[in-house]
Amino acid sequence: MYLHSLPLLLTTLLIALLIPSAIFTFTSSRNTVAMSSTTITLAEAFKSRRSIRVITDDVKVVDSRIQEIIHDAVLHTPSPFNAQEGRVVLLLKDEHKKYWDLAKEVVKGLVPAQFFERAYEPRIKMYRAGYGTALFFTDPAPLKAFEAKWPTLVDEFPKCKSLIKVWTTLSAEGLGCSLQHYDYPALDARVSEEWNVPATWKVKSQLVFGNPAETPPEKIFEPVENHRLFVHGA
Ligand SMILES: Cc1cc2nc3c(=O)[nH]c(=O)nc-3n(C[C@H](O)[C@H](O)[C@H](O)COP(=O)(O)O)c2cc1C
Repeated sequence: MYLHSLPLLLTTLLIALLIPSAIFTFTSSRNTVAMSSTTITLAEAFKSRRSIRVITDDVKVVDSRIQEIIHDAVLHTPSPFNAQEGRVVLLLKDEHKKYWDLAKEVVKGLVPAQFFERAYEPRIKMYRAGYGTALFFTDPAPLKAFEAKWPTLVDEFPKCKSLIKVWTTLSAEGLGCSLQHYDYPALDARVSEEWNVPATWKVKSQLVFGNPAETPPEKIFEPVENHRLFVHGA
């Protein structure tokens, strides 16, 4: 939903990818055998990744594969000064549903009723119908040492770089994913309490996924050459 926190747009668009660190999984056991890895090329995976917001929870990808994808993205994402400040909390099945129940409860208490019913309720229902949500955080602690030394640089550090990699790779496995930003202190507090997340971690976004149940609309592309891409010396 696009009602909040757009600064993230710029940061995540630095597709360059990824932040390492720790990954925490909450699952109620099912699907534990690793699937074979994807056979499409990286270039094809980037081209075919789309936002799929209508999803269901009857996914064909096993939990261990989902975990592996997120683990690898977290581990191999470069970070400023190798600070490894990215954190991911992966919620599957009932834990995923619980997250969207909490989001519904918190947002309902914060926005006018009519707006909630029109803009939020149907979307939260859509996301809840999925299978999992990966919550992307930044832990400011590992960056502290660099803030003192490079105060102007730290704000420029792109956040949550692992996200695009996870999105692309889960899509390549056949899952439908969409990126959301439910960035509410009251929701962060509930997440901290429910899944033991340190209160200092800053939530950046949620990647919701499930079995795709819609075909995304045709995408309109801005011209690239000499508009978004400028080449010299080729
Ligand atoms: C940084 C960033 C933030 C986004 N935020 C949202 C969002 O809050 N809600 C949403 O439904 N989609 C969100 N999207 C998805 C974009 O709308 C989508 O990527 C864009 O329209 C292109 O469509 P595609 O993903 O199908 O290629 C976001 C994408 C990026 C990269």
